[in-house]
Amino acid sequence: MKVEALPARAGVHQLHNYEEIAENFDWTEVEKEFSWYESGKVNMAHEAIDRHADSDRKNKVALYYKDQNRNESYTFYQMKRMTNRAANLLKENSTLEKGDRIFIFMPRSPELYFLMFGALKMGLIVGPLFEAFMEGAIYDRLDDSDAKSIITTPELLSRVPYDRLPKLETVFLVGEDVAEHEGHIDVLKHLPTSSDKFEIEWLDKEDGLVLHYTSGSTGKPKGVLHAQYAMVQQYQTGKWVLDFTETDIYWCTADPGWVTGTAYGVFSPWLNGVTTVILGGRFSPDGWYKAIEDFGVTIWYSAPTAFRMLMGAGDALVKEYDLSTLRHVLSVGEPLNPEVVRWGAQVFDKRIHDTWWMTETGAQTICNYPSMAIKPGSMGKPVPGLKVAIVDDQGNELPPNQMGNLAIEKGWPAMMRQIWNNPAKYESYFLKDKWYVSGDSAYMDEEGYFWFQGRVDDVIMTSGERVGPFEVESKLLEHPAIAEAGVIGKPDPVRGEIIKAFVALVDGYEPSEELIEDIRQFVKKGLAAHAAPREIEFKDKLPKTRSGKIMRRVLKAWELDLPTGDLSTMED
Ligand code: PRX
Repeated sequence: MKVEALPARAGVHQLHNYEEIAENFDWTEVEKEFSWYESGKVNMAHEAIDRHADSDRKNKVALYYKDQNRNESYTFYQMKRMTNRAANLLKENSTLEKGDRIFIFMPRSPELYFLMFGALKMGLIVGPLFEAFMEGAIYDRLDDSDAKSIITTPELLSRVPYDRLPKLETVFLVGEDVAEHEGHIDVLKHLPTSSDKFEIEWLDKEDGLVLHYTSGSTGKPKGVLHAQYAMVQQYQTGKWVLDFTETDIYWCTADPGWVTGTAYGVFSPWLNGVTTVILGGRFSPDGWYKAIEDFGVTIWYSAPTAFRMLMGAGDALVKEYDLSTLRHVLSVGEPLNPEVVRWGAQVFDKRIHDTWWMTETGAQTICNYPSMAIKPGSMGKPVPGLKVAIVDDQGNELPPNQMGNLAIEKGWPAMMRQIWNNPAKYESYFLKDKWYVSGDSAYMDEEGYFWFQGRVDDVIMTSGERVGPFEVESKLLEHPAIAEAGVIGKPDPVRGEIIKAFVALVDGYEPSEELIEDIRQFVKKGLAAHAAPREIEFKDKLPKTRSGKIMRRVLKAWELDLPTGDLSTMED
């Protein structure tokens, strides 16, 4: 099945001539959009904030922030002043210098963004941390990166083991009751009185920007370092993929503790001078729909799990809100099930556009562009200027329709520049010094669309048949009783592996033998006999990362009674 492309909109760079652009694209054309192309003086915070504050966009809203207690907006000009104050505050109360690592460990709030961009103005490398991290996760990251400073709140301070982190000099605390003493600085006390003028620290385009820790399949989380130059791809994909225009109100639901929340929560929209919504607090279907209605969101970037949770909340709820401003909906982080695409088309009257990328790629890599017909279930086509291919384990390119390693030719603009403190690990990602190997398996069809199959180690071999867990999960999700599904291969002496499904039920359904049989038949009928799970186990909730991926390795560990490994990226 194919879903037709959206009609052309005049004057917008929509990639209607994708093939032509993809063939010859030269990133220097994009470099010319930045002030550093002429001056050589680079800083993300200048391009994302100050440049607009000093232009016609001065009084345009950069940030709408809302949570249970606050509902605020800041123009680009106000953002410039607040981030200058933050930069002065950080500078005057520490020994921090260009290139030093500073972590941000706090819930979303306007101050988080003032401080993040204040730190960037100082030329620091920012390490965002998700607020649900516990002490061990904090320790590993700060220790590995020799962090000199952390920004946190009095409530979260007990999870920062500063006694065990000798390099950690300064703790900046954002909150009401701050006991200020040597090395503990009260941000809210100093922010209003800090100067709103600041001389930006000019950097080179290869200097550090953000350090995102992410889990691999083995070992401790690794620090993925991105360079300032990532902005080139983050900016341009904002145009091609997110379809930014001057009047858009954009909402990316990801937390800045994860790469989506930095690259596309703030960098991409602000590089493009686009108004961004940040919603604090927790997920709730009503709260989310209300945010779209209240802010008049036009472009919405979220994740399959969120869409599935909204789906589970029922279609009646959607009708209680005016979502008519929405014109473009996108997804990232895990496979977007065709079922969800169809649901989106039905309730929002919008096709959900899947995008594929990962922490290491630094920016969107394979996407469904507004101008392009969607094949539900496909991630789309590579971002122009990038070469993406399916390669075998030796790094040889495979022909269409053959499954293999999803790989990207080294040297794309937003590519990670280092695994912090671990050059050997960094090198291990590349084959033939040419291909970055993603760890995902996929195939490309004759028309150049890429189809995700699973993480390399997730594909199931059962009775000699190759089964992608995603296919089975997608089918399971079409069953009316199922809200969430995760599928693993369970070792079996006869069949190699059998398929085991873990499922969470929609409210109102109860586990029973009849239901198990019904689900099994449903998959058998809908997909294939060999794809039907031999075992089905009911769970209240499935383990997921914050970016929404079902953590199959945790399901597998439960099943086989093995240690679950690093859980620091797990939601809650
Ligand atoms: O397995 C792929 C999956 O998420 C992985 C990257 O995770 P992370 O670094 O946390 O970044 C998430 C958001 C940028 C990939 O290796 N993934 C991401 N997007 C998709 C996806 N799987 C299927 N379809 C996608 N669109």
